[in-house]
Amino acid sequence: MIFKTLMADIDAVLVRDPAAKSRFDVVFSYPGFHALVFYRLSHRLWGWGAHFFARWISHLARWLTGIEIHPGATIGQRFFIDHGMGVVIGETAEIGDDVTLYQGVTLGGTSLHGGKRHPTLADGVVVGAGAQVLGPLMVGKGARIGANAVVLHDVPDGVTMVGIPARPVQPKPKVVDSDADSGKAVPLEFCAYGTQNGDMPDPVARAIDQLCEQVTASQKRIEELERRLARDEAGDAAGDEAPRVAKN
Ligand SMILES: CC(C)(COP(=O)(O)OP(=O)(O)OC[C@H]1O[C@@H](n2cnc3c(N)ncnc32)[C@H](O)[C@@H]1OP(=O)(O)O)[C@@H](O)C(=O)NCCC(=O)NCCS
Repeated sequence: MIFKTLMADIDAVLVRDPAAKSRFDVVFSYPGFHALVFYRLSHRLWGWGAHFFARWISHLARWLTGIEIHPGATIGQRFFIDHGMGVVIGETAEIGDDVTLYQGVTLGGTSLHGGKRHPTLADGVVVGAGAQVLGPLMVGKGARIGANAVVLHDVPDGVTMVGIPARPVQPKPKVVDSDADSGKAVPLEFCAYGTQNGDMPDPVARAIDQLCEQVTASQKRIEELERRLARDEAGDAAGDEAPRVAKN
């Protein structure tokens, strides 16, 4: 059974990595495959309650491959970790069939309580290099997570997420006109510096945008208050004038 599972894991590498030339290549030169062999063994031991030995084998695998898979994690068939260095898969992570991870991916937790605290990846998910998928969230079937994205919420089936925090990839802007001189297509919306609808996945730029919005709102409020004050002062001055005119 475990032999059959490992053969399917090897064939998955051949299908998904154009650099893989043969089964020998995968067996001897793929750290992702080595980590998986250790995981399949340690997961068995974990299931039998031999927690110490399971953890020790997982630690040995990490030492040899740079990939840390907790033996309590659940991993489906034909799983492929390409390159692998820096991958961390937490204890309560659940991974479906035909899932692919690249180097530097974390399937991590965001809380210290002992229950389900790591993500669930449905069948066919691809997670790009350096992406962090954090918390007990669900990544739907066939979804793709872009390199270096930070995913903090559920991802629907088939959706591609990019950026920090991760957001769905927007459809390309519609072409509505062509340039009179060059005849080239002109997009419907102007996108400064080519960023997607100005929604740049940069937390510093986003914080600055928010500060600018707050300053503009405060300025408007101050102007409004000054106008009211001026109106009130003008009203008071008119009130003082009225009795003097009446006496004369
Ligand atoms: C997310 C990903 C799957 C999208 O691929 P795709 O469907 O071909 O999408 P596109 O390349 O057309 O990009 C769509 C938009 O998302 C943006 N985008 C793509 N990947 C991104 C990323 N990782 N971070 C931020 N933005 C990204 C593109 O700039 C593009 O924006 P635009 O519409 O404003 O031009 C792919 O870019 C990716 O990151 N794959 C991981 C690959 C990887 O880790 N390889 C490691 C090999 S060692």
